[in-house]
Amino acid sequence: MLLHVLGSAAGGGFPQWNCNCRNCAGVRAGTLRTRARTQSSICVRGDASADWALVNASPDLLAQIRAHAALQPARAPRDSGIATVLLMDGQVDHTTGLYMLRERGTPLPLWCADPVHEDLTRGNPILRVLEHYCGVERHPIPLDGSEFTMAGVPGLRFAALPLASKAAPYSPHRDAPVPGDNIGLTIIDAASGQRVFYAPGLGERNGDVDAAMRAAHCVLVDGTFWTDDEMIALGFSRKTGRSIGHLPISGPGGTLEWLGSLPAATRKVLIHINNTNPILDEESAERALLTRHGVEVAHDGLQIAL
Ligand code: MLT
Ligand code: MN
Ligand code: ZN
Repeated sequence: MLLHVLGSAAGGGFPQWNCNCRNCAGVRAGTLRTRARTQSSICVRGDASADWALVNASPDLLAQIRAHAALQPARAPRDSGIATVLLMDGQVDHTTGLYMLRERGTPLPLWCADPVHEDLTRGNPILRVLEHYCGVERHPIPLDGSEFTMAGVPGLRFAALPLASKAAPYSPHRDAPVPGDNIGLTIIDAASGQRVFYAPGLGERNGDVDAAMRAAHCVLVDGTFWTDDEMIALGFSRKTGRSIGHLPISGPGGTLEWLGSLPAATRKVLIHINNTNPILDEESAERALLTRHGVEVAHDGLQIAL
């Protein structure tokens, strides 16, 4: 399979439009060794497939399509390399791009869990608005771990796992999470059996997620914040990372410790990086620590072939 990182930043992107933190100011001024990043999305295809599954529809989707020629029209007057869309949650940074696909001539195949479908038809009724354009052909993601395939992306199988994270802030049940608000996704190459585990929003370590990560050859997981109080320390928020569904990378019980418990051969990549995170500075001590532990930081355009 080929997995392409379209957007590696968390909500807001990097730099964020209104942010003057060290990282955002540094990337604007060109004084920081780093790369700008768009908001959270990947696409994936099987080796024998021309078409891709889009996983999350970022507010930056049009720029991401411009940057990735394989998604652009090539075979007919109206055409796209995006055969189907799957949503990990109902967050603004993962769903707003659905509006950018409204010119399709046929309903958009859309895979999402039931609570996300409910949020996107009620709290933030994107799918009802889209009914006035292309409409969607909705498919529920099974939450019992059973494998499923998606039409248009041959050679891949998928399996979802409900995660302890958070529904989007606009969700009527933001403070009463239900299974399916957020998922972790295993993507399996049907021919080789190679597996990727993808979880851009991971709020808690538990046995099921650990097992899915151990079974994977590559994990792409939540690297939003370095510390739990990152946004508080900068004066940008009163909320901890954990309270909004993101386990910090550093410290006891953090993601780095967790990744360190996985087999050495597992490829470990952090994704969904918030613009405040010191790991975006390629010369930072935090980035050096990750490198020493064999942990990569995703950037837009990163391709993983498995
Ligand atoms: C999150 O994952 O918490 C989001 O990035 C929030 C957002 O989209 O603003
Ligand atoms: Mn997000
Ligand atoms: Zn910033």
